[in-house]
Amino acid sequence: MKRIAIVGLQWGDEGKGKMTDVLANKADIIVRYQGGDNAGHTVKFDTYTYDLHILPSGVIHPHVTSILGPGMVINLETFFHEKKPFLNASIKVSNRAHLILPFHKTLDAKKEETQHIGTTKKGIGPTYSDKINRQGLRVASLLNKTRFIDEANALASLHHIEFDAKQYYETYEKEIKALIPNIIDVSKFIDEAVNKDQHILFEGAQGVMLDISHGTYPYVTSSSPSVSGIPAQVGMAPWLLEGALGIVKAYSTRVGEGPFPTEIHDTLAHNIREVAHEYGVTTGRPRRIGYLDLVSLKHAVRVSGITHIAVTLLDVISEMDVIQVCTQYQLDGQSIDEVPAHIEDLSRVKPVYEALPSFKDDISKITTYAHLPKAAKDYVEYIAEALGVDIAYVAVGPKREQTIEVKNIWEVTGD
Ligand code: GDP
Ligand code: IMO
Ligand code: MG
Repeated sequence: MKRIAIVGLQWGDEGKGKMTDVLANKADIIVRYQGGDNAGHTVKFDTYTYDLHILPSGVIHPHVTSILGPGMVINLETFFHEKKPFLNASIKVSNRAHLILPFHKTLDAKKEETQHIGTTKKGIGPTYSDKINRQGLRVASLLNKTRFIDEANALASLHHIEFDAKQYYETYEKEIKALIPNIIDVSKFIDEAVNKDQHILFEGAQGVMLDISHGTYPYVTSSSPSVSGIPAQVGMAPWLLEGALGIVKAYSTRVGEGPFPTEIHDTLAHNIREVAHEYGVTTGRPRRIGYLDLVSLKHAVRVSGITHIAVTLLDVISEMDVIQVCTQYQLDGQSIDEVPAHIEDLSRVKPVYEALPSFKDDISKITTYAHLPKAAKDYVEYIAEALGVDIAYVAVGPKREQTIEVKNIWEVTGD
């Protein structure tokens, strides 16, 4: 395969950053296709740790061209700050991506006072609202200072917020000038890369259960992490995508508010949070912990379109005496195997669990699939079979080296 998507299948933080870094060795180009600096993708190798919010996780690899795609919303402050250490990286930004301006963060925080979604307060919702409302500013506006100032001041007035667009532009003027040669038409760039037969990875942020259309609405983000959104957001033909690697954490986590049917609050949740350091990279909030939820995972695989999975954080399962997996929901005395569309129904579902044997071994140094304990392999295979997809990778620790390749997804051929 030459063009592959990496997509979180739960509520974010599944290990997309880690898996993007692993697949980056073969990639020529990595495109972040949606979201903004609400994301937090951790990449670890040797003694290094990178927490990336807005740059694609392949930026660490000097041979990779990193692209911020048209479907993204970009906060210039985060962008210029985050790219600083990557002096020699090739980083390109779509002329059609939207700009998060400081007042979008103010509007996000204000709305949270009454709406309580538990957003990251990065201004994501208000910026996408302006986009859909046909009044937002795109990266192309930066190409002309006067035009930017007029447009940004007009948008601030629409929101009845004081904003000095001239001062804002001048704060970043030096960086903006340096960026201009790397502001590109991403659709055209990808088209040329496809014609050159290059390897392209599309890195999602958040997860399918946070998708604006298919997630646990309204407790979602304001973009579409699902695979099916990629062609529309990048500007490419859907059939050019050859595969999609769904990232599945071996249990579930969620940050922010909203229904979480398999959530647990006991000592196990506490232990998992501490062992796996389940705290949000962007906001520092403790992540909510739960058992694996096959009902929502099947939904995510179906609405998104997934060919392979990577099961991550498998090492953390050794905290469990028994592995509990939710296979169905109970709602009003009925068994259901789909995710209710209405949030009030979803908040009332009761999970039905199947218990599987756990393992207590430390698997964090195992490098081949065959050497995993039987219960670990059985669990991974149980998940893959239930979801009807192939296993490509198993992660047994946060570092790049702690990844077991079952199947190299780049080498999979269509048959
Ligand atoms: P992302 O948002 O999907 O990129 O995921 P995050 O990076 O926000 O969260 C995943 C966390 O788990 C990070 O701290 C990773 O370093 C860590 N991680 C990734 N894979 C593994 C794994 O297999 N085992 C353990 N213990 N940690 C992992
Ligand atoms: P990565 O890419 C986990 C959650 C927020 C909130 C909801 C809406 O690291 O997986 P927003 O600020 O996007 O309007 O918040 O979405 N959220 C994430 N949760 N991981 C993320 O990104 C998230 N990005 C947003 O906590 O519940
Ligand atoms: Mg994250």
